[in-house]
Amino acid sequence: MSLKPIDKPAELTVEGKSYAIPILQDAMGNRALDIRTLRKDSGLIAFDPGFASTAVCESSITYVDGEKGLLSHRGYSIEDLTENCTFIEVAYLLLHGVLPNRVQREKFSQLLNRHSMIHEDMSTFFRGYPEGAHPMVVLSAMVVSLSAFYPEIEQSADREELDMTVTRLLSKLRTIAAFSYKKSVGEPFVYPSQKLSYCENFLNMMFSSPVSDYKIEPYLVKAMNQLLIIHADHEQNASTATVRQVGSTRANLYAAISAGICALWGPLHGGANQAVIEMLQMIHRDGLSAETVLEKAKNKADPFRLMGFGHRIYKSYDPRAKIAKKICYTILDKMNVQDPLLDVAIKLEEKAIADPYFQDRHLYPNVDFYTGITYRAMGFPTAMYTVLFALGRLPGWIAHWLELRQDADQKIYRPRQLYVGATQQNFVPLEKRP
Ligand code: SDX
Repeated sequence: MSLKPIDKPAELTVEGKSYAIPILQDAMGNRALDIRTLRKDSGLIAFDPGFASTAVCESSITYVDGEKGLLSHRGYSIEDLTENCTFIEVAYLLLHGVLPNRVQREKFSQLLNRHSMIHEDMSTFFRGYPEGAHPMVVLSAMVVSLSAFYPEIEQSADREELDMTVTRLLSKLRTIAAFSYKKSVGEPFVYPSQKLSYCENFLNMMFSSPVSDYKIEPYLVKAMNQLLIIHADHEQNASTATVRQVGSTRANLYAAISAGICALWGPLHGGANQAVIEMLQMIHRDGLSAETVLEKAKNKADPFRLMGFGHRIYKSYDPRAKIAKKICYTILDKMNVQDPLLDVAIKLEEKAIADPYFQDRHLYPNVDFYTGITYRAMGFPTAMYTVLFALGRLPGWIAHWLELRQDADQKIYRPRQLYVGATQQNFVPLEKRP
């Protein structure tokens, strides 16, 4: 624990008794009540469903300023990183805390390429899934299965061994993602090539086939790098918190990542990028006006929400959505694609950000609003969008798992509750129950 209390504690007075609550301050000036001994000192606990006002750890990986719409990884802005780095360089930054120099970058790339294959026995697993199995099912199951083929990282593992294991997982997830797609379209697997970069390999494994010479376009490789970078990490979001929760029990890395993949799948989280496209397709198909859609989104009696809008932390435009929108325009223009869904999205955004309901609740486009339109133009099927989110988020998940593991103060996650069930029940034997 690196944070020290600031000089004057807060004072909590309950039924005439006062308790001093230390106040912690982080590197950005955010302050927190340190309530770790609150229950022991006062018998009281805090109540915070969804953890909207609760910090569960300290971290030096990523910082989000929701009010200003800023995102940085290890102090570098997301704008600088997407403009100047490849995804692998950002992954290295998240995992090691520094941007790689040439030698480190070369060594990391070689390690990624060396470990890009999965055990041949695992390739047969894909055949066990029915046609149309969602690739997130396959991704999560295959990742936890890696622990059957590769030894768990011992608690005593040195950094070298840790690096090997995390690099292996980074590389294999890309292979598993591409294989799950090929399986879903009934095409033969395309194996990784040592001659290609991470994103070149991924695009090639996804879209080349024995009967077609797939040309790896540099502008698509650049877009793929940028799209993975904007998904790389995002503080304690639901899937990262899941990885930390599972990691806090000392479960192995593969188990923690597999759980994170399942958490990401939900439409309120990473599954939103698929839900956005399905929403835009419905709007386009049914010819709904933006006004009609916004009325549905505002109607509390209607379960419909404007997918790709709103965020727990961003109360301003998600900086990743700005980058994603720019990439979307670039790719559709380069590929000469006219997608009516983009027009629908633009219209929705224009109307929503001018609407008092959305303004009062600070609801703006988030990272998921524009990415699906780009993925569509690039040729990815809708079911693969959340897999792409997972591919991008993997280095962030691993970085948090490593940080948790190295935090001597970290405890097993075990939240408390407020009980509202039956208090006292007299037992009634089966024969006497009504
Ligand atoms: C991601 O945490 C992260 O960092 C996540 C993520 C990451 O990188 O890991 O950024 C990735 O998950 C982005 C979010 C993707 N999800 C969606 O796009 C789904 C649609 N959005 C919402 O469901 C919602 O905005 C959440 C889940 C994202 C945030 O939910 P919160 O913070 O719990 O907010 P809330 O549900 O309490 O909403 C507050 C108010 C409510 O209205 P009132 O009760 O005040 O009248 O805003 C309304 C909500 O009804 N609201 C919406 C809305 N989002 C919030 N109303 C209509 N449409 C929406 N999308």
